[in-house]
Amino acid sequence: MFDAPPTADMLYVPNKAIVGAGMILLAITFLIGPVVRYFDRFDKWLGYRKEIGIVGGFLVFFHTIISYFFLPLKFPQSKMALDSLTFGAGLIGTLLLIFLFIISFKKVIEWMEGSRWWFLQRWGLRLVILFTLIHVYSMKWTGWMKWLKQGGGAPTAELANPQMAGLGILVMLFVTWVTVVRLYESLFLFKSLGLTPKEVSMDAKLKAHGRRFFIGSFWVLVILYFFVITRWM
Ligand code: HEM
Repeated sequence: MFDAPPTADMLYVPNKAIVGAGMILLAITFLIGPVVRYFDRFDKWLGYRKEIGIVGGFLVFFHTIISYFFLPLKFPQSKMALDSLTFGAGLIGTLLLIFLFIISFKKVIEWMEGSRWWFLQRWGLRLVILFTLIHVYSMKWTGWMKWLKQGGGAPTAELANPQMAGLGILVMLFVTWVTVVRLYESLFLFKSLGLTPKEVSMDAKLKAHGRRFFIGSFWVLVILYFFVITRWM
């Protein structure tokens, strides 16, 4: 099934597509805030944030189940110690996603006071992104650097196009950019990490400042994509 060679699990490649899509959706959930604050025309996106986050969360949850239970050839459980930095971070991220899903029900939102709920949502998603960065960078960094320096070698049944950048590196470039945009906003615009439940308001000057950084850093992201995608083409 799925044309997997005998040395790879059937869900090995689908798992990458599932977690890639889930991660992009979670990153978009994280990006909608600044986009709406800097650009007037995207206001209605706020209404979709919760749904995009829930779909992204479910896809990532499937990735956890597939990775732990259905990849015995590539990732046997004996090689995925849940108390290691890499997989421990992934597990904490998954538990946080389940918590965010539970508190997304209307009844729970009503039961918690508004500002307390916002605080948990805001920090919950931030921590999911943080643990994801730890999970993926600690697992993939060496491989990505090797591919960037030496290329992927000759094609094999498992990797038919080693000259193409892996999906993981492309996804994580986007996630990293979104994190930089959010960090810049907290540190240099709001000058607050948002440890209190209060919302920070944004005046026209801050808005223009944020917009400039957003657009400038977006172009850096485009250049990085160009470099990575064309590296061995
Ligand atoms: C919030 C929770 C998690 C997120 C967001 C997440 C995200 C990711 C991402 C983006 C990748 C990179 C895929 C690639 O480079 O192609 C990945 C790889 C992987 N993750 Fe997770 N993960 C999470 C939890 C877990 C957990 C709990 C486990 C196992 C216990 C796990 C096991 C793996 C494995 C084995 C890979 C390598 C897959 C491969 O190279 O084919 N992940 N994860």
